[in-house]
Formats: sequence, C-alpha cells, structure tokens
Amino acid sequence: MEDLNFFTLLKNRIYCFLFIERFNKKLQIDFPKNFQRWDLIQHLIDKYDYKNYLEIGCDKDQSFSKISVDTKVGVDPISGGNVRKTSDDFFQDNKQNFDIIFIDGLHHYEQVKKDINNSLKFLNKNGFILVHDCLPRTKAHQSIPRYRGSWNGDVWKAIVELRTKENLNIFTSQIDLGVGVIKKEMNSNILKTNIKNFKDLKFKDYYYNYKNFMNIKSYEDTLKSV
Ligand SMILES: C[S@@+](CC[C@H](N)C(=O)[O-])C[C@H]1O[C@@H](n2cnc3c(N)ncnc32)[C@H](O)[C@@H]1O
Repeated sequence: MEDLNFFTLLKNRIYCFLFIERFNKKLQIDFPKNFQRWDLIQHLIDKYDYKNYLEIGCDKDQSFSKISVDTKVGVDPISGGNVRKTSDDFFQDNKQNFDIIFIDGLHHYEQVKKDINNSLKFLNKNGFILVHDCLPRTKAHQSIPRYRGSWNGDVWKAIVELRTKENLNIFTSQIDLGVGVIKKEMNSNILKTNIKNFKDLKFKDYYYNYKNFMNIKSYEDTLKSV
C-alpha cells in the first residue's frame, strides 16, 4: 500500500517536477453528477440479467455495497469486499467465471493491464469489464509516483494500449472520472498508432490526443451502446 504521508507526497511532487514532466495545462472534462460507476454496473446487471459480479479494489465498499446481484466477489488486500487478497493472488487461485468485472484496484498502468488481462480469462461470453478512473484532468491526477489525495493514476495508458488490439472493443464512458468499458469482441474502432512504449507516454500526449486515445462516449451514448 502506498505511503501517503505529507512528506512522501511532497518528495514525490518534487521528483515528478524535476524528472518526469512539467506540463501544466488542465483539461475541462465534465461528468454528470447523478450517474456514477455503480449506476452503470447495476444498469448492465439488470439489462442482461447477470448473475456474477467481481470487483477488484473495494476500499470502503462505496460501490460493492450498492450492487444487487446473485453472487458478488470483492477482492482487496486491505479493506472492503469479501476476499482479502491482492488481485494477482486472487486470479492465481480463482476457478469461477463472472458476467461483469469492475477493476478499481492499484491504479498503475502495469497492474491495470494485468488485471484486465486476467479478467478476460474469467469473463463469461457477452460479459463486460469496466475500469474506473480512466480520465484524469491534470498531470497531478495521473502522476506516478502519486502526490495528491484525489488521484486517477495512469490507468489511461492501459486503455490506450488495449485499444490497439483487434479482439477487444473498448470505449471510455464520460461518467464518474471516466469508466473504461471493455467487451471481448472484434474491435470496431481500432486505435492506429506507432507508440512503442505505452508506459512512457506523458500527460502532454494525453492532453492533446485524449479523445482519440480514449474513444470517449457521453453518458447518453454509453447507454445507447451497451
Ligand atoms: C480506489 S479504491 C477502490 C474504490 C472502490 N472500488 C469504489 O468504487 O469506491 C482502491 C482499492 O484498491 C485496493 N488495492 C490496492 N492494491 C491492490 C491490489 N494489488 N489488488 C487489489 N486491490 C488493491 C486498495 O486497498 C484500495 O482499497
């Protein structure tokens, strides 16, 4: 678990300023106030009569406690949910498939990519994977190492990379800090790019390309397309 005391945050902020990036422009991305991540999850469960829900990273069960479904599994090494493990340990032992999986654990590009790839192995046909925190508005919101309390991490880089794959259909819903919506099917809007190392992308790259990178859909278009 990350150490978030004042001195660590300050040290990380200085480190990022000196060695990572100094780009200070901010994006204005508005999110509807009355439709949150758990509303989209519940909408999909009700619409498709899904039976099994998996959440990776549960914290205080802000989402987990609101979901109504036959079977729910919540994985978190620290708090919330009902399985006290890291996602890697969980997937290593897991034998169960799920209709819908919500990824909201460690918000680092490599871990998110791993969580998505592991989730794909246990996703039922016609299921959905949702990924939280895909649309940061500033460099600070997506910085690794972390130096602010409210933070998205660099989840967005995993979405950009996976949008280049032919067998995954991905868009980002402009709700609740950005929710990535992934289906295991032919990619209808493949991202063409010559990026070699997705981890090395900077906030500046995202700032100028985020609409193309993330394939953003409004709240209204999200509901029309799921
Ligand atoms: C942003 S919070 C989750 C919030 C919650 N899903 C919600 O909807 O409000 C992130 C959680 O991920 C957990 N976490 C950190 N590393 C993890 C890992 N490797 N595997 C699973 N969960 C992890 C943290 O303990 C923390 O509770």
